Amino acid sequence: MAWTRVAGRDDVPKGGSGEFEVAGRKIALVNSGGWHALDAVCAHQKQSIACGKVEGGVIECPHHFWHYDYRTGELLDYLKGVRLGTYRVEEKKDGIYVDV
Ligand code: FES
Repeated sequence: MAWTRVAGRDDVPKGGSGEFEVAGRKIALVNSGGWHALDAVCAHQKQSIACGKVEGGVIECPHHFWHYDYRTGELLDYLKGVRLGTYRVEEKKDGIYVDV
């Protein structure tokens, strides 16, 4: 694991999320109740969840509306035991860093 700067502090609006590529991984960076990072590839059909609706600790995949807890990566509907990878995030003066 290595801390990597993935975005500027203003690149993701409060209450939103964005997709960033880090060390060959697609990461969804969520700015809601602090910063959160999780794998952006949906367990359903491998589309990106990164531009999904963010609300109440949940990010909704915009493709077929599966829901994930963005703090734990846990899929909240359809299948039990599915969890996307999550990463530690730190906000620094020069941007947002993820431990990937
Ligand atoms: S690809 Fe995410 S719900 Fe289908």
